[in-house]
Amino acid sequence: MELSQAPIGIYDSGVGGLTVWLALKRLVKQDLIYYADTAHVPYGDKTRDQILSYSQTIIGFLAEQKVRAVVAACNTSSALALPVLTPPSGIKLFGVIEPAVREGISATKNKRVGLMATVGTVESGSYQDLFRRHAPDIDFFPQKCPKLVPLVEAGLTDGPEVEQALEEYLEPLMEAGIDTLILGCTHYPFLLAPIQRITGPKVAIIDPAHQTAKDVWSWQKQYADNPNPRDVFWTSGDPRDFQAKASFFVDRQIGPVRHHSPGQGETEE
Ligand code: DGL
Repeated sequence: MELSQAPIGIYDSGVGGLTVWLALKRLVKQDLIYYADTAHVPYGDKTRDQILSYSQTIIGFLAEQKVRAVVAACNTSSALALPVLTPPSGIKLFGVIEPAVREGISATKNKRVGLMATVGTVESGSYQDLFRRHAPDIDFFPQKCPKLVPLVEAGLTDGPEVEQALEEYLEPLMEAGIDTLILGCTHYPFLLAPIQRITGPKVAIIDPAHQTAKDVWSWQKQYADNPNPRDVFWTSGDPRDFQAKASFFVDRQIGPVRHHSPGQGETEE
């Protein structure tokens, strides 16, 4: 076991990656550096080149913070950027899609699996390719859900507007007879209660955060635990806004949150 300690970086377009951060905090005793790219949220409607450029900038910035691993706690970046991105040397990259597919394959009994995800993730074909490769006998039903990230980022996790959007997106999946639903965007676990009201208890819901955190944990156990792990937060947007929003979503006061403007240095709030 190596004694040296180094932080683990996590990034997303906004609050969604906090679902992965929460799962990681439960398992991994290391400093965690969370980067919310709220200047560019939502990622779901951006081009591959844009997502690649944002992801490269963030990973480069996290590398400067001396992280030893980076978790793309974002399906859209995992789908569009990770397959074509070269990580800085010595940095291990984790994505959320492969763990989600593994869990989806082992959960389904009737071999009908649904996916809720951003437009970018669905159109990338990443989930479809992995299912085709590893479980060609499974019928896979991807659903684009463009309204959900803006609702979650606005702090709306239930209520009529959320229900209406979820009904629209889940209706075709329920009609297709799925018994397993992958939440293919890290923002969606914050909508778990209204999602389950629609799917009922018979549909297994896959939140990729848990399997991703397990993957990171089993890789990093070669290093000594940090007895006093610290949490650091960065955002490309408004730090006070992110601090308030993130504290609401993780149900505890987080902070401080620092501001990072790509190419223009950093300031602390
Ligand atoms: N939470 C991210 C994902 O998993 C990004 C969603 C977005 O910003 O549109 O895809």
